[in-house]
Amino acid sequence: KHLGRCEIFEVGPRDGLQNEARDIPVAEKIALVNRLSAAGFSRIECASFVSPKWVPQMAGSKEVLAGIERRSGVRYAALTPNMRGYTDAVAAGADEIAVFASASEGFSRHNINASIEESIERFAPILEEARHIDLPVRGYVSCVVECPYDGAVAPADVARIADKLFSMGCYEVSLGDTIGAGTPDTIARMLLAVRDVVPVGRLAGHFHDTGGRALDNIDASLSLGVRVFDAAVGGLGGCPYAPGASGNVATEAVAAHLARLGYDTGLDEGEIAQASQMARAMRG
Ligand code: HMG
Ligand code: MG
Repeated sequence: KHLGRCEIFEVGPRDGLQNEARDIPVAEKIALVNRLSAAGFSRIECASFVSPKWVPQMAGSKEVLAGIERRSGVRYAALTPNMRGYTDAVAAGADEIAVFASASEGFSRHNINASIEESIERFAPILEEARHIDLPVRGYVSCVVECPYDGAVAPADVARIADKLFSMGCYEVSLGDTIGAGTPDTIARMLLAVRDVVPVGRLAGHFHDTGGRALDNIDASLSLGVRVFDAAVGGLGGCPYAPGASGNVATEAVAAHLARLGYDTGLDEGEIAQASQMARAMRG
């Protein structure tokens, strides 16, 4: 069966490692990114220019971007919460950046110390500057079904923020089930609302596997036309400002699942297995 192309956006070195308790040396992070570069990804998120007081594990992001071996055809991505982060990411040579908003006020406040509206205002000059230098900007929406502070999130709220980020110039909007509370049903209802305002080809699914339903949620997304999924090698991760959030869905599990269904990911499963082993060994 050939169902066409599906892409995994690797977020392990960022979303995976940001939440690990052990102080991971920069050299280990560089080694992980270099391994992942050989596996066939076209985008790897490996840096985050956030406040080191908020997320100490990402403090070495500049050194990571300086130390990796850049493979042609791979874009090395970084998170940027504000202008300061944007300037640092560009200076460090990030190939693309990401702004991150939330569909719920509680998470927005806890994660970036701003209301949703304030966060969008912060992102506007970033998108403006990035446009001038042709730097691709990805947009995240967190808590697309449930918020650890505010409870259930309405699909219309997710659609509103996704629409906003896309209209501002984000080339893709990644929809985050930050605490893995989604089910195929709630994910589908959310996607139906978002699909009305952002072309489905510009959406990505970002599923944490807390509830053990990430692969089911990927299936629900596939049936509605989503073809990009974020995943972290070794199932690393979580979010320090989302209590209870466990790891991202594991890249090796998603790659095997997509291959079984008949999708072409262009990934080398042997390389991913080795990267996964390395990632697991990096945990505290
Ligand atoms: P704040 O405390 O409101 O900001 O934090 P501030 O402007 O008052 O700055 C506080 C201090 O941070 C100052 O230093 C600034 O200079 C410094 P001080 O004067 O106290 O020494 N600072 C910075 N340092 C480095 N880089 C920067 C930067 N900005 C300020 N860019 C802020 C506001 C946004 C900075 C903070 O809340 C923050 O960094 N938050 C990031 C939290 C985070 O990274 N969360 C995880 C990523 S999101 C996620 O994982 C979800 C996702 O995976 C999708 C999903 O699963 O849903 C994407
Ligand atoms: Mg995440």
